[in-house]
Amino acid sequence: MITEIRPRRLVCLTGFMGSGKSTAAGLVARQLGWQHIDLDKRITDATGLSIPEIFARMGEPEFRRIEHEQLRRVVGEFLESQKPRIVSLGGGTISQPQNLALLRENGGALIWLRCSIEELLLRCATVTDRPLFRDEASFRRLYQERLPAYESADYQVDSSAEPARVVEQILALEIFPRVIA
Ligand code: S3P
Repeated sequence: MITEIRPRRLVCLTGFMGSGKSTAAGLVARQLGWQHIDLDKRITDATGLSIPEIFARMGEPEFRRIEHEQLRRVVGEFLESQKPRIVSLGGGTISQPQNLALLRENGGALIWLRCSIEELLLRCATVTDRPLFRDEASFRRLYQERLPAYESADYQVDSSAEPARVVEQILALEIFPRVIA
């Protein structure tokens, strides 16, 4: 039995709102027997508030501070245990340079779940829990602003497909340990 080289044990899914990060990360974790950490869930657990409540009561800068603090904890836990894990980030996490640096410095692999803006709009239009989804024009603008950060990810997969297909593409990446023979 030969195991492929270059496996990564801290894998993060990035992508715009509605790209399916949490769903895909949960499914990948289940298939690999890895831990799944959802950064937004960490934030809501830590504050006892929903994401819209945090934005409404404290504003985006405070949300970003809490997001960074929770990401540091997630990375710290990984460094301590070294157990493999997959993290679903928030849509804006890696556009904060300090978050990107933290992940890079600690060996985090980044996978961008790429999806067309039209599909993302369709997916987000009916969901009301995203404070940064205000209207179509600002949604499109934010997407464009964030593209360079997403494009800096190590890998990208097409996430306009159904979740099972997205998971297949993720698991096919070379960073996952695979039995060759
Ligand atoms: C955000 C995306 C949200 C959440 C917060 C901010 C963003 O996560 O972290 O509302 O800046 O794009 P999802 O991408 O999971 O919706």
